[in-house]
Amino acid sequence: MNGLDLTRLPKHIAVIMDGNGRWADGQGLPRILGHRAGAEAVRRIAEAARELGVPALTLYAFSWENWDRPDEEIQALMALLEQFLDSELGTLRKNQIRLRAMGRLDRLPSTVLRHLNQVMADTAHLDQMTLTLALSYGGRQELVDASRRIARLVCEGRLSPEQIDEAVVSRHLYLPDLPDPDLLIRTSGEQRLSNFLLWQISYCELYVTPTLWPAFTKDDLVQAIAAYQQRERRFGKTGAQSPQSAQINGASGRRGGEVGG
Ligand code: IPE
Ligand code: IPE
Ligand code: MG
Repeated sequence: MNGLDLTRLPKHIAVIMDGNGRWADGQGLPRILGHRAGAEAVRRIAEAARELGVPALTLYAFSWENWDRPDEEIQALMALLEQFLDSELGTLRKNQIRLRAMGRLDRLPSTVLRHLNQVMADTAHLDQMTLTLALSYGGRQELVDASRRIARLVCEGRLSPEQIDEAVVSRHLYLPDLPDPDLLIRTSGEQRLSNFLLWQISYCELYVTPTLWPAFTKDDLVQAIAAYQQRERRFGKTGAQSPQSAQINGASGRRGGEVGG
């Protein structure tokens, strides 16, 4: 028993996995060992989300801006990613998890890209959960890339500017079939988005925890989901209009205030 309402799990959880470097610092270790421990947390949390029954998990693993880190750290991260892809295929298969990726993947080293494409192909038919890695990813870059694709359609006369609406923009994102996240978790306490999923999180619930990513456990995930389940999502409407207000507050009337993370 974890106290969660399993009928109201978020359909898609996104995580800004931050704090690997600080975790390593705290242990007197080099940063790369923090990233290694972070990769173990990826396996742990993907399995936990799958066990809970969360259909989609998206993890921010490497941002567009992270390309500006020292070469040595980038190389170590890319090597770790390649190792992770090799070692985790079994875990993905065992748990029936499909791996996907979003970002400007063409900037990844060719060997990493080859491994990534292989694991994505090998797991494409698995349907118990979708694990998406945001790699070489930036929310602004995604919107630039979507704008370019839409502009091309307009130039080719296949779309008029008036036909561009929210649905058209959504359809030109990297993974248009992935639903918007319901819950965004950021570890290590930073209260910022760092260019993650800017379009998709317009009505996402935010949860920030001081726990550093390598120390993040299944219990922490359960706590984040529990906090999410206390929120009243209004989508711009009044509390009385919100179907959730009835569900969450039952006959006892509306609960005051937000439950923070
Ligand atoms: C997150 O940990 C992993 C990546 C951004 C690749 P950091 O490396 O950002 O760790 P901190 O923020 O320096 O502690
Ligand atoms: C965000 O973490 C990117 C990832 C977790 C991959 P950063 O450590 O890069 O974010 P900032 O620089 O603190 O905003
Ligand atoms: Mg960081």
